[in-house]
Amino acid sequence: MAILPIIVAPDSRLKLKSQPVRQVDAETRQLMDDMLATMYAAPGIGLAAPQVGVLKRVIVLDVAKEGEDKQPLMMADPEIIAAAAEDMTYEEGCLSLPSHYSDVVRPAWVTVRYRDRDNTIRELKAEGLLATCVQHEIDHLDGILFVDHISALKRNMILRKLLKAKKSQALETA
Ligand code: NI
Repeated sequence: MAILPIIVAPDSRLKLKSQPVRQVDAETRQLMDDMLATMYAAPGIGLAAPQVGVLKRVIVLDVAKEGEDKQPLMMADPEIIAAAAEDMTYEEGCLSLPSHYSDVVRPAWVTVRYRDRDNTIRELKAEGLLATCVQHEIDHLDGILFVDHISALKRNMILRKLLKAKKSQALETA
């Protein structure tokens, strides 16, 4: 398994739409395994393929708390087929927006249909943190970041800070 470099915003590649996988083959399984290893190493609770520069509809998640057994989920072509009418607010972060967090409002639960690592079609009702996480990761597949759900003022402030951090990092390594 390889640890892949994670793209940090602002970056136009994070705004692109990913393509369906349709069939989980050996290449997709390798991508899933590498993404999971990358997510655990970060560490994070979710990662989408475009964050590692692959425009495929693949996400990985694990919302197990520290000390609990791992609960890895690998999903290809995830699709929300039902969503709660009631909303939930959760403070979100993202490996592509390191050190920045903001409250985001989303449906409190969703049912997601996806292909698992063995290409079996499954359905999962996600609630609580998992509901937030799976919606956040599916957003990535459509080029949407959590900051796209908050006010333009707050979004621009976060993106400006990230750009500034990138520039000073570039200077340091130049
Ligand atoms: Ni993210």
